[in-house]
Amino acid sequence: MCGIIGFVGREQAAPILLDGLARMEYRGYDSAGIAVRSDTLGLQVRKTKGRLQALSDMVHGGVDLEGALGIGHTRWATHGEPNDVNAHPHVSENGSIALVHNGIIENYMELKEQLLRHGVTFASDTDSEVVAQLLEYHYKECGSMLEAVGRCLRRIEGSYALGIICSDYPNALIAARKDSPLILGFGENGNFIASDVTAVIRHTRDVAYMNDGEIAVVTADSIDVFDSELSPLEVEHHQVDWDVSAAEKGGYPHFMFKEIMEQPEAVRKTVSPRIRDGRVVLDDVRLTADYVRDISRIFIIACGSSYHVGMVSKYNWERLLRRPVQVDLASEFRYSDPLVDRRTLVIVISQSGETLDTMAAMREAKRRGARTLAVVNVVGSSIAREADDVLYTWAGPEIAVATTKAYSTQLVLMDLIGLYLADLLGTVSAEEYAAIVAGVQALPEQMQQVTDRVEDVQYFASRYFNHDSIFFIGRNLDYAMGLEGSLKLKEISYIHSEAYASGELKHGTISLIEPGTLVVALGTHAALFDKAMSNVVEVKARGAEVLAVTTGRFREKMSKTADAVVVVPEAHPILQPSLGVVPLQLFAYYVALHRGCDIDKPRNLAKSVTVE
Ligand code: M6R
Repeated sequence: MCGIIGFVGREQAAPILLDGLARMEYRGYDSAGIAVRSDTLGLQVRKTKGRLQALSDMVHGGVDLEGALGIGHTRWATHGEPNDVNAHPHVSENGSIALVHNGIIENYMELKEQLLRHGVTFASDTDSEVVAQLLEYHYKECGSMLEAVGRCLRRIEGSYALGIICSDYPNALIAARKDSPLILGFGENGNFIASDVTAVIRHTRDVAYMNDGEIAVVTADSIDVFDSELSPLEVEHHQVDWDVSAAEKGGYPHFMFKEIMEQPEAVRKTVSPRIRDGRVVLDDVRLTADYVRDISRIFIIACGSSYHVGMVSKYNWERLLRRPVQVDLASEFRYSDPLVDRRTLVIVISQSGETLDTMAAMREAKRRGARTLAVVNVVGSSIAREADDVLYTWAGPEIAVATTKAYSTQLVLMDLIGLYLADLLGTVSAEEYAAIVAGVQALPEQMQQVTDRVEDVQYFASRYFNHDSIFFIGRNLDYAMGLEGSLKLKEISYIHSEAYASGELKHGTISLIEPGTLVVALGTHAALFDKAMSNVVEVKARGAEVLAVTTGRFREKMSKTADAVVVVPEAHPILQPSLGVVPLQLFAYYVALHRGCDIDKPRNLAKSVTVE
């Protein structure tokens, strides 16, 4: 979603701002803009609807804009259509204050009406402009920018990450955060604010994560942080440990393809520090055996692909733990008056750690007394910091909107957590424990075998890319995996697709199967292979074209009925989805490629969904 960058230092700001915005393009946006301050020209604002390249062309890569202090923004429209005027930065009426904003100001209508009564005129339809006008109002009232920010924040309701510059303050930008991420970057030639570490990683790895309610005053040589009452706070520095190349394509045609190919390594990095001498070690988790034995119920809460990880984990955890595990979409959970109490363990899964629905659901669970454990990829993200315990997936930065390596690392980390809990409960035998650990250790090598043979899937994608409706069917873990395969396909190729539990077909969906309909049949879950096979026969009998995914031992049986078969290595049963999902990701990728889609930035989608 929207991206913010701000810089103040000893270099021209505009090229740095444009580069930072380019590195956040993956988040999704529909317009972009920058504001730079110079002694001679004051505040210069340039913004436009459309791609960042249009903005860059407008200012000749930034060389046109003089000044070493500036803010930039990529906007994903919420209030007001995507156009030049609604793009950020927004400028106050007298032109002295410019700001960029992520989030939603919930009481903006009320504030706007109050300002209108004071004769303020508005240029845009956005909630964000209200903050700029309100700031000018309070600045005129008190004469101090910091005080004006404090007064303004006390009046606004909702979520915000703000970057503010003022023509009266040549050396400082002000930042503030509530429920929308913002980091501070300490550079050699100046300092930064950004909504995403990727925007500043070329300049510095020394960062601090702002907390809700904090305000920062950033100059070229210092960053001071204050609480909402403007009392100074200590700043905690963090070193970003991934390399700048991790957020670059490195010769791959798309980030999505690069990230698919990185999966063996990402899974290795996620599991290897957590297995020692054949035992699962989760150093960061403080769950005692007594606590775990007292748990009456487990919820897994997430959105999108992270929810699909939860679906796989439900099957696996119930089998390992013999405890009820409920998977809920975060957006449903939060309003469902959930049956959660202090004996409930709530697992939240999120790549970004900023998904608003997931965050709100987690807060609701905590409010009801549950203990929360977050599985998160982005270090220092809001969910990671608010959960009682956090376990990071070490996937590195994921840039493509369609998640792949984050999904795979979440999946394997959930397997480890399940095994860890089962061990505390005594519900897993020593033999099975050892078999699963060995299976997890073998996964990176097995995933590599799949990614080494992309041509198979590439060929099938070229055969099937022009279908306009594709069904994924499977049972149990294959069903959960099919949900992810179907989402991957539809989000990047725009083909209508649905995933069904195979046994459910005859209760309605089978009426949609007609001669030529493509059905992706998943037959990797050995325990139910024969059942899955009978559903393949069922759809074949209605004329479907069947592309199947299975393991070596079922290839022959499957080939007798299916039109095409992709084979993946065989793993321990609970780990099989980690291998089966890879050809589904590749299938979505190649189908989208054949259809000429914008793979890394699919229409209407954002990488991290920070609005409801
Ligand atoms: O960052 P999160 O894992 O919380 O994001 C959840 C979903 O928005 C995300 O998985 C989305 O469905 C992806 N586009 C799927 O590829």
